[in-house]
Amino acid sequence: MKFFIDTADIEDIKELIPYGLIDGVTTNPSLIAASGRDIFEVLDKICNIVDGPISAEVTATSYEEMIEESKKLSVISNNIVIKVPLTKDGLKACSSLRDKDIKVNVTLCFSASQALLAAKCGASYISPFIGRLDDISHDGMQLIQDIRSIYDNYTEYETEILAASIRHPNHIVEAALVGADVCTIPPSIIHKLFDHPLTSIGLKKFLEDWKKTNQKIK
Ligand code: E4P
Repeated sequence: MKFFIDTADIEDIKELIPYGLIDGVTTNPSLIAASGRDIFEVLDKICNIVDGPISAEVTATSYEEMIEESKKLSVISNNIVIKVPLTKDGLKACSSLRDKDIKVNVTLCFSASQALLAAKCGASYISPFIGRLDDISHDGMQLIQDIRSIYDNYTEYETEILAASIRHPNHIVEAALVGADVCTIPPSIIHKLFDHPLTSIGLKKFLEDWKKTNQKIK
């Protein structure tokens, strides 16, 4: 499963790159707002440091304006993926961008029927929001599983399932178990994936025992 980092914070991205875990980045209008930076400046910086797909979301709601915004966002870099909302206009824009060989991430997906439409419209990625479904007592992971089953029934669909709105490490493990292609993860949760109390306890004991030997690895 690929890991995308769900942030527009350059420092958070730079910190995680050396681990070799980051396959791409997703941004959205809220994340750009939180960065406090200009959208073009921040996307340009991200594209310069990450070698992988970078999702840049349109903020228009009409088809025509989405296409106009997509043109402006696409010129930032070859790795820009245009992110459109799962609306009628968004899916129309998806089809049209696909015909121009521009990759599209269809976002704000909350049902299997929406995911089926996105695949038929040629989306490169569909982004089901697991956390926001869990927040309203629905089963976000069941949606990922349902989309996986549908996409696996039809080999002509090339859309990758991008599990989004990740709230905790278990979401990532479960998304991997049900076969999501990608997980987009906030930086704080990527850091949490490293931790296990038994690792810390085990390492402490090894180092205490080693100290007693008075040896050094030369
Ligand atoms: C996905 O691309 C979105 O940016 C993101 O995962 C939304 O997550 P949230 O529900 O935590 O805002």
